[in-house]
Amino acid sequence: MGLASMYEDYFRIGAACAPDRLDQQGVHIAKHYRSITAENCMKPIEIQPAEGLFDFRQADKLVNYAFEHQLEVRGHTLVWHNQTGEWMFKDGNNHVTKETLFARMKTHIATVMARYPLIKSWDVLNEAIADEDNRFLRESMYSRIAGESYIEHAFKCAHEANHNANLFYNDYNESDPKKRDKIVRLLKGLLEKGIPVHGIGMQGHWNLYGPSIEEVQAAIEAYASLGLRIEVTELDLSLFDWNDRRCDLLEPTSEMLELQAKRYDEIFSLFRSYKDVIDSVTFWGAADDYTWLSDFPVKGRKNWPFLFDDRYQPKESYKRVTHFSRLERV
Ligand code: GLA
Repeated sequence: MGLASMYEDYFRIGAACAPDRLDQQGVHIAKHYRSITAENCMKPIEIQPAEGLFDFRQADKLVNYAFEHQLEVRGHTLVWHNQTGEWMFKDGNNHVTKETLFARMKTHIATVMARYPLIKSWDVLNEAIADEDNRFLRESMYSRIAGESYIEHAFKCAHEANHNANLFYNDYNESDPKKRDKIVRLLKGLLEKGIPVHGIGMQGHWNLYGPSIEEVQAAIEAYASLGLRIEVTELDLSLFDWNDRRCDLLEPTSEMLELQAKRYDEIFSLFRSYKDVIDSVTFWGAADDYTWLSDFPVKGRKNWPFLFDDRYQPKESYKRVTHFSRLERV
């Protein structure tokens, strides 16, 4: 029985993947996961590298694989300050007007969503809130040209493109109390204005030392109190604290793996207790053979953030998150 089957009474379990890794990871993914997120191939710059030049080849490959294997797909991501072609913000040597930017956003969102009408959940907007305490919105070309209004525009366009889709705001450091409160402020404002937003994507790029379970729980409570659905969208547990930049480890120590198992156990127990508001939990990778963390924040430093090792074998972490008894399963 795969990981996702054990969790089918709770929430969908997913993994991020790239089309060129399917040859290697495809069988493992189809066995243990129920959903796929495109690691990069659905990002704006990949799908529309130049104005009007849509390239769906990579995204189609991933989506076709998913549907052939009865996996769902999370759409990721329609609007982001990063990995978006510069053309989006330019008119010759000048910045575009807000009207032109809005028209381009609408075309991009409508075209991508029309291509994949079966995708039910979309990250409409990624990472619009600032990390700095003294700022609310992230400074980006979007906010520079259109202020806060680009946010509502994005959600309205997505709703217009597919009335049945679940529309998400997705962000990292989502459990940090200060950033959490800013995300709540943003989403509360949108809901009060009747903007169609249905859920929060908690990215979940965490490590062995933080955030605390209490912080994660408080974030889930805060987001759920707005009446929004929650999807954990990019979960990974780095073995290194953020400021730990050592790069001499060839294998994880047994202490690290034990701490990782303990953390995963606590995190999944918490998620299970919020199954009424959490619809899916997606890892930002499928197994330790590939993770973006092996290049971030230290280039070329191997990391081991998942439940499965380099050879797709279950780690102690896997055993802990699947140990819950049939009694707990409702
Ligand atoms: C963010 C984005 C993801 C991905 C990760 C790093 O969390 O939302 O798409 O780029 O960073 O891999």
